[in-house]
Amino acid sequence: MFGKKNNSDNAVLSRELVMDRLKTIKYPGFSRNIISFGVVKNVTIQDSTVKVQLNFTTQNAEIREQIAILVREQLETMQQVKNVELQTTAQTAQAPPQASVSHAPADRESEKLLMDTKYRIAVASGKGGVGKSTVAVNLAIALAKRGARVGLLDADIYGPNIPIMLGAYEKPKGRDNKVLPLERYGIKLMSIGFFLDENSPIIWRGPLVGKAIEQLMRDVAWEDIDFFIVDMPPGTGDAQISLSSLTKLSGSVMVSTPQNVALTDVIKGVKMFQKVDVAIIGMVENMSYFICPHCGERTDIFAHGNTEKTSRNLGVPFLGSIPLDTAIREGGDEGKPIVAMRPDSPQAESFFAIADKILEKMPL
Ligand SMILES: Nc1ncnc2c1ncn2[C@@H]1O[C@H](COP(=O)(O)OP(=O)(O)O)[C@@H](O)[C@H]1O
Ligand SMILES: [Mg+2]
Repeated sequence: MFGKKNNSDNAVLSRELVMDRLKTIKYPGFSRNIISFGVVKNVTIQDSTVKVQLNFTTQNAEIREQIAILVREQLETMQQVKNVELQTTAQTAQAPPQASVSHAPADRESEKLLMDTKYRIAVASGKGGVGKSTVAVNLAIALAKRGARVGLLDADIYGPNIPIMLGAYEKPKGRDNKVLPLERYGIKLMSIGFFLDENSPIIWRGPLVGKAIEQLMRDVAWEDIDFFIVDMPPGTGDAQISLSSLTKLSGSVMVSTPQNVALTDVIKGVKMFQKVDVAIIGMVENMSYFICPHCGERTDIFAHGNTEKTSRNLGVPFLGSIPLDTAIREGGDEGKPIVAMRPDSPQAESFFAIADKILEKMPL
């Protein structure tokens, strides 16, 4: 989950090496690995292609999906592996492992959380530092300014920074067994950061991540909300899978910068959401271009436009570009988001344009 560096990076690809890697994958909801559950039936290797046959005893399609995604993710990060082919078989006669629900408790449609909100949107990316939180915050405020009732959940367990970006530091209060969200700039917000102890970092394991996100959805008084927006941690792992099983997401907004490294990762993110049947609302290019505050000249620092090209290749919509801009960064650092403080600025306009595209698809 933390992109473990393996000292077997240079070893020749072998069945053992693959099995070693697969052993690191825990069966969802359990501390034991998937091998010990007999999920991996066969591994064959041809050049740099790994074929894995997965045999499931669980009836739960989401658990099967989760395991397949985790297997693919682990194998694709092995240096020696170019292609991963998964074959799955189901053994329907046996009972599913019982505790498998702890990671994905809302498997049945009727148990999905926050279905009284109009839309549920994940703001995601492959990489950290591409401006996911910046986009989530400013987009949330832009939607609120267009008249939507917005709830923003900061689910970034590795770096929850929505409180800083919105200048919200007070401890949330409780009422009737629920935690009340804070309010800033017309939106309701809740962050996993409010509940973390800075001095004792938690090692997040899969089931814990899911549990934490579940609590932030179930135990918070999210009421009267049109857009429920979740600022996701980077990556394509546990948090994404948990969220997509806890609620029925209306879609995800994928944030990238124009560099290839960020795009490669965001493509993985898009594919992961598509695998769990989450629609891609569209891609956003952040830090797209730079306008000199002194002379007004525009510079494409990274290869501006790459995200739009990628979205075309993937067949998903492109929602718009955000400039690389000092005021956007300062707004984030000072808890004064640009869309709230300077709604008429061109920088804020770029966020409003994206909000309006979303509202076209998701009317109030
Ligand atoms: N368009 C932008 N212009 C200038 N700085 C930006 C922009 N977008 C994000 N940043 C800055 O980059 C850093 C990372 O952004 P952040 O939104 O926290 O990324 P992520 O949530 O993807 O990790 C922050 O300091 C933020 O203020
Ligand atoms: Mg962030």
